[in-house]
Amino acid sequence: MIGVFDSGHGGLTVLRALVTAAPARPFVYLGDHAAAPYGPRSEEDIHRLTVQGVERLFEQGCGLVLLACNTAAAVALRRMQQTWLPTAYPGRNVLGVLVPVVEAITRVPWMQDGPSADWRPEPRTVGVFATPATVRSGSFPREIGKRAPDVRVVQQSCPDLVPLIERGAGDDELEPAVRGYVDALLAQLDGQVLDAVVLGCTHYPLVAHLFAEALPPGVEVLCQPSLVARSLDKYLERHPEYAPVMNGHAVAPRFFTTGAAEPVGALAGRFFGRPTPFERLSP
Ligand code: DGL
Repeated sequence: MIGVFDSGHGGLTVLRALVTAAPARPFVYLGDHAAAPYGPRSEEDIHRLTVQGVERLFEQGCGLVLLACNTAAAVALRRMQQTWLPTAYPGRNVLGVLVPVVEAITRVPWMQDGPSADWRPEPRTVGVFATPATVRSGSFPREIGKRAPDVRVVQQSCPDLVPLIERGAGDDELEPAVRGYVDALLAQLDGQVLDAVVLGCTHYPLVAHLFAEALPPGVEVLCQPSLVARSLDKYLERHPEYAPVMNGHAVAPRFFTTGAAEPVGALAGRFFGRPTPFERLSP
């Protein structure tokens, strides 16, 4: 089984793309709703909670876990892979959701550290909307800058969006918040044209239409869930040891939460597109 982890509901936008791409692959989802949102938390806290969440998924029988949470991936993943995973769980792996987006922006495959000799720079300006912790980690500008130094990255932290989305706020409340963040990012550009934006939080696909309306025409909005789904397919081709044995029939994912199963499940349909019966994992 493949585990999919997020602080709350956001990872369901990624899981939806994963299930659409491979309906017979068995997925197990865990939302750490009891501790969400992660965005305002410290690095230490996010690391501790992410390790805990991944362990819960390993206990459910997952050999591979995808952190469908930019905050957890940006803040905790590298440290987990370097200092915890190889000794605590040798033979298992944890992936994030930043790599597929960085590859799409830079057009440089991840396994290659920098541009190849025939690579032609294409100066572009890319905006990143994300949680405060993701912005503070500097992961997006750092990883993009290593591979494509001609891409200018402008970040905008959006502290109100996840709390609003997690409590099921409607567009009337979300629209002014999104517009405010878009205006704040545009104000950082000093007249430069914005070519593309990344919605660098897995909750934000739910308000992608509001971002599209608020952004100037012609700005490309990268779709993280579909980029991640394509990238996971390629990863499993290279690492068949993590590819679950499939019988060809569609299987329903299992949904776990550290929070209250009923209200979590009721809101989850908005993210996943169909009913999602959650089970509570005791703390
Ligand atoms: N959905 C998450 C992300 O992609 C986390 C949001 C949060 O808990 O603040 O960043």
